[in-house]
Amino acid sequence: MRCNLAVVKLGGSAITDKSSPETVRWDVLESLSAQVASYLKAGGRLALVHGGGSFGHYIVSRLLSERGRLGPSEVSEVQREMLLLGITVVNSLLSHGVPVSLHAAHSMCVGERSCELTPMLRDLAAGLTPLTYGDAVLTERGGVVVSGDTIASMLASEAKADCLIYVSDVDGVIGPEGKVLRVVSPRDEIADITKRGVDVTGSMKGKIAEAASAKVANTRIVRWDSLLRALNGEEVGTRVVP
Ligand SMILES: Nc1ncnc2c1ncn2[C@@H]1O[C@H](COP(=O)(O)OP(=O)(O)OP(=O)(O)O)[C@@H](O)[C@H]1O
Ligand SMILES: [Mg+2]
Repeated sequence: MRCNLAVVKLGGSAITDKSSPETVRWDVLESLSAQVASYLKAGGRLALVHGGGSFGHYIVSRLLSERGRLGPSEVSEVQREMLLLGITVVNSLLSHGVPVSLHAAHSMCVGERSCELTPMLRDLAAGLTPLTYGDAVLTERGGVVVSGDTIASMLASEAKADCLIYVSDVDGVIGPEGKVLRVVSPRDEIADITKRGVDVTGSMKGKIAEAASAKVANTRIVRWDSLLRALNGEEVGTRVVP
């Protein structure tokens, strides 16, 4: 069935080149913005989250290796880096006519899994397309990373979305036989095909666990060029079940 209310995570693996710092994949971002615009034009509603890609993941890894921990200045640097990518995503969506409203996750979250997402829900109800992203926040334990995968899962449950779509650069989850799985659960064995590049939030295994924890009927991991098909209810990519 076609999605009525969707939460879509625009994976950093799709919108950036994770093997090269601060590199946007402009063609992919443009395609995703166009697909989001088509879905809205057909009457769909959605909220968006984007990942860190070669902005967030790269700077967190660099700061951790250089300075050992994330203190106040490091958290600030990560926040700035993610805001830069956030503005880039806003520009692309706006140019396709999507009424996007950007919410910094660090203004809503106080820990890895503790976010107050009401500002986004309010904008969604008002007819905007709220967007947030994976981010860093300063806690009593120092700086921590809030994963975009986690926020997307929490947001989908809270918004009572009927679809939760994780967009990435792979056709779906690759199983032990090397083929895309039609369905996956967190207990299933999967292939390890991690590419060159940095990742600080658990890559595919973490994504499956977050996706599976959402209370959403239709949860999928799809490649970026299949987003609209997934939103139209087609069985593309890999379905995630608890
Ligand atoms: N079994 C698997 N099936 C599919 N992809 C896998 C698998 N094992 C590892 N991966 C890796 O997981 C990556 C997707 O996770 P990753 O966290 O890098 O992307 P993302 O969440 O879109 O990016 P970001 O975290 O920046 O938002 C794929 O690019 C692939 O390299
Ligand atoms: Mg990821």
